[in-house]
Amino acid sequence: MNSGPVTHILSSLQFDTDTLYTLFELADRIRKISKSKDGLDFLRTILSHKRAVLYFAQPSTRTYLSFNNACQILGIQTSDMRSAATSSEVKGESIEDTLETMHSYTDMIIIRHSEDDIAEKAAWMFNRSDKPIPIINAGSGPVEHPTQALLDAYTIHRAFKGKIKNKTIAIIGDLRRGRTVRSLTYLLKNFPGIRFNYVSPAELALPADVKNYLQKHEIAFEESDNLDKAVRKSDIIYSTRIQDEYDQHHESLAIDYTKFYLKKSHLALLKKDSIIMHPLPRRNEIPAEIDADSRAWYWKQEINGLWMRTAIISHIFKEDGYILNYR
Ligand code: CP
Repeated sequence: MNSGPVTHILSSLQFDTDTLYTLFELADRIRKISKSKDGLDFLRTILSHKRAVLYFAQPSTRTYLSFNNACQILGIQTSDMRSAATSSEVKGESIEDTLETMHSYTDMIIIRHSEDDIAEKAAWMFNRSDKPIPIINAGSGPVEHPTQALLDAYTIHRAFKGKIKNKTIAIIGDLRRGRTVRSLTYLLKNFPGIRFNYVSPAELALPADVKNYLQKHEIAFEESDNLDKAVRKSDIIYSTRIQDEYDQHHESLAIDYTKFYLKKSHLALLKKDSIIMHPLPRRNEIPAEIDADSRAWYWKQEINGLWMRTAIISHIFKEDGYILNYR
């Protein structure tokens, strides 16, 4: 029986380098253990006494599926709410009462929501209850997506065989409203010598709070709208979709986002050991003809999400040692 304070996953700001390397090792280990039937049987017993609810009030394919499958790997029983439209919130129930109800029935809440601070609110509510339970932020409005950043960092760790230091990453696209952009920036602060090339249309430039964060931590960064230059200079190309679901008046229609699409011709500019990433879903930011290039890592990145999210849940329930000691 493990005890101690409940661990929530609320923001990329909460992680230090040691915890990140523990999660990387755990994810690698779980991936390996799961290759055998005995290993899978072992993993399935670890949290078979737990229940979780996945409340996704915004659309999702891979975050939902990877968390659901991560729970299954660890034996956790799950319940779904895939839309606020199926919640009694449509009958006028408050989000607080909805969270209270999820808390009544389960041992963990995994939540994606358009409001920025629902995960923090839930953590705050239940920390003071007689049954504190972990809360995982699976994407909060245009602000944060910490578990995406964890799987992104894990992907970089694997691609560069553990050598994340002194890398240059180009983050391209909707930097203003892309929650993965803020979360990944915060997380990569843990790796010395990281440099950022932010590439975007002026209307979708990096928000002031993220720039302040970079300046405060003396992290080198450049901003431009020059995609070709960023592709030539960077070790990691991180492309993102325009987040037009946050438009107020269809303002994205006035932006020429095609200038920020990777094209097959960019492969000739890209260094031979660089990698291309994308949190997905994509539209036209990366054409499918790039998928076959060995430097295209976005499908591996997506698979890494399953192992990283299984590691995150194991870590939250303090099962790291039990898994790492499995032989
Ligand atoms: N990257 C990501 O969050 O994808 P989904 O919206 O499909 O979950």
